[in-house]
Amino acid sequence: MMKFGTVGTSWITESFIEAAKESGKMELTAVYSRSIENARKISGKYDASQVYDDLEGMAANEEIDAVYLASPNSHHYEHAKLFLRHKKHVICEKPIFSNTAELEDAYQVAEENGVFLFEAMRNIHSPNAKLLKEQVDKAGKLRSAVFQYIQYSSRYDRFLEGERPNIFSTDFSGGTLVDLGVYPISLAVYVFGEPEKVSYHPVMLESGVDGSGTLVMEYDGFICTILCSKIAHSFTPSEIHGEQVSLVLDHVAPINKISLVDRKTKKSEKLGEPLNENDMIYEIETFAKIIEENDLEAYHELTDYSRAVLRITETARKQNNIVFGTEK
Ligand SMILES: NC(=O)c1ccc[n+]([C@@H]2O[C@H](COP(=O)([O-])OP(=O)(O)OC[C@H]3O[C@@H](n4cnc5c(N)ncnc54)[C@H](OP(=O)(O)O)[C@@H]3O)[C@@H](O)[C@H]2O)c1
Repeated sequence: MMKFGTVGTSWITESFIEAAKESGKMELTAVYSRSIENARKISGKYDASQVYDDLEGMAANEEIDAVYLASPNSHHYEHAKLFLRHKKHVICEKPIFSNTAELEDAYQVAEENGVFLFEAMRNIHSPNAKLLKEQVDKAGKLRSAVFQYIQYSSRYDRFLEGERPNIFSTDFSGGTLVDLGVYPISLAVYVFGEPEKVSYHPVMLESGVDGSGTLVMEYDGFICTILCSKIAHSFTPSEIHGEQVSLVLDHVAPINKISLVDRKTKKSEKLGEPLNENDMIYEIETFAKIIEENDLEAYHELTDYSRAVLRITETARKQNNIVFGTEK
């Protein structure tokens, strides 16, 4: 079984560790935190044998095959490169990096060291995303889609109180498009491909990040509109509109239910298989299989998705002068 270490100690790391255990594909061996006490808390809870408060030390550990990175977005690139250079497979949280230059460089480092670099974009690995892709053909000619991830963040309350949580800071490569928008964008790229043109219309916060935004993705004869926000909340589903059939998705990350609604009869067919309670299990199964089988074709399909999504968010940011700290 593949042995792995973790970087970052918030709830998402624990969620990944639990999914890894459930998958039976990966065994937690080492935990890094800037605070050794925090590392011990996680290692104790999940029976990891080693703790680190220096990254180099964990990267040099020969027992570890892979690392899961859930550090702030701005740190992904340096952290990933360190582990890739030590020949560890890297599973990096979304958004993989701040820009495409970092991504291309890191893919090269991965290749030079004979390891894989994955983006933990959980929604495109779930079985219902595949199902959606298969069903889209039934809709007739596609004309429009509205995908949204609009979820009020508790960290916005802290922001309003004068704090600067990482995700609301350009220094940490934050903002709603790269945090929540990447889920609907990834799903759109997965289902429809890369758009011909994008235009982004953000609602800016005084810290220089987008709090809300609308991204228009233009395809030939079809427009997909992405709505994202961390400063408001939505109660409506996402939809794809074909000339014959509309597809209604309860959510984009993950998709639990899909309804196919016939335009003429208004009859609705419900689809979607019940998902595992922890949907991170699907990405772990995909990554582990690629590593086990050295499946370069499947790997390059994933790297193409990550490239396309990052190209889109980078273009959207450039259109609106949203500059991250590492780019200044
Ligand atoms: N897939 C998903 O569903 C999902 C959900 C949530 C988040 N994420 C992704 O996971 C990543 C982490 O998100 P998060 O909300 O947990 O971020 P965060 O709270 O800002 O930071 C994550 C971890 O990084 C370390 N850290 C915090 N501030 C730091 C700093 N200034 N310098 C260096 N390290 C610092 C902390 O670990 P230590 O103090 O232990 O070092 C912390 O636990 C992001 O890329 C996010 O997009 C994914």
